[in-house]
Amino acid sequence: MDGWSQGALDETLEKLARVGRPIAEATGLPNEAYRSAGFAAFERDQVLARTWTAVGVGRQVPAPGDACPVSLQGLPLVMVRGQDGRIRVFHNVCSHRGMVLVEEAKSCGRLIRCPYHAWSYDLEGGLQATPKIGGGERHSCPGFDKAKHGLKEVRSTLWCDTVFVDLSGRAAPFETFVAPLAERWRGFDWSLLRHGGAESHFELTLACNWKLAVENFCEAYHLPWIHPGLNSYSRLEDHYDIALPGHYAGQGSHAYRPSLGDDQQAFPQFPDLPEGWDGKGEYIALLPNALFGLHADHLFVVILLPEGPDRTRELFEIYYVGDAAVGPAFAALRAANAEQWRVVFEEDRGVVEGMQRGRASPGFTGGAFSPAMDGPTHCFHQWMAGALIEGAATKGRPELAVVG
Ligand code: FES
Ligand SMILES: [Fe+2]
Repeated sequence: MDGWSQGALDETLEKLARVGRPIAEATGLPNEAYRSAGFAAFERDQVLARTWTAVGVGRQVPAPGDACPVSLQGLPLVMVRGQDGRIRVFHNVCSHRGMVLVEEAKSCGRLIRCPYHAWSYDLEGGLQATPKIGGGERHSCPGFDKAKHGLKEVRSTLWCDTVFVDLSGRAAPFETFVAPLAERWRGFDWSLLRHGGAESHFELTLACNWKLAVENFCEAYHLPWIHPGLNSYSRLEDHYDIALPGHYAGQGSHAYRPSLGDDQQAFPQFPDLPEGWDGKGEYIALLPNALFGLHADHLFVVILLPEGPDRTRELFEIYYVGDAAVGPAFAALRAANAEQWRVVFEEDRGVVEGMQRGRASPGFTGGAFSPAMDGPTHCFHQWMAGALIEGAATKGRPELAVVG
């Protein structure tokens, strides 16, 4: 239980049962769900590891041979783009003495070489070289079979440039997982998505649990007080709730009409835009941790990486529609759009970090939900509570899934 006793688990399970009540009577997740290291490890192994959890984006490994490490609540993984263009995700650990293989994003060329004793793996994880393993200049040794000591691959897939992993190897197929959201947003040609480049990316480190960032993203309720600027061109009154229990939660705006400084210029839109999408935005958390913001002319992707119970790394990426949108003619407009979103996400920092500090108070025992305004947040809490209860009931750690 990683420092989390059975008694503590039982106590938390009792509180989780209250989350599932009808919204007017429900309380939210208990404080320990945001503060306890033992809970965070349990959550990683019994919830995040059993479903499709986002760990990064393809943009981080643009070319064959590129590798980018990522840590999921302390569990080290590495994304690698192969010669075939495919992204694979491995446990970021050497088969020899367990050294972390890749410490920072870089190009590995054709081989991923361990910095300790230089064992080297190809981009598909096969162990190719074991220098001096036999002593002297002998690079092989009797009884040691390289084929048995490759990297451990994790089941992974790419959707809207987002890299998802199933650490258990036993989650439902990704297509099943994503189907409800893919269906909601059918009609958008994702093959046209192009990353906007360096200025269309930013990263925030937040002093809060990752779940608070999901909750805050799911609601529009705070707009008038936290985002007066955003609320001027995408008003709270124009928003609607989005919640599909078990799948996704968020909110949308019927009237997203920002001014980016140059009203003469507009980004290209998705062709055959589905009805009603001109001037609309939808902000949806695909549970557990991938957040998407879709508009007629851009999609943003936010990945929340839990780094500890009270620390979250937030990756933010913007994608436009077609090659022209990411060309020089739109550079200034892209920069203005990215800056506008960066300001919005920075504005949220104060509240997500403040809610984290608030959870140190015994005076807060899960709080309350507004039945009118907090439906999507409650939807997320119900999903988490259900997944935690199921994880506790079935226990057991997810097995390593070695692909291929
Ligand atoms: S730990 Fe990697 S080569 Fe020894
Ligand atoms: Fe916000």
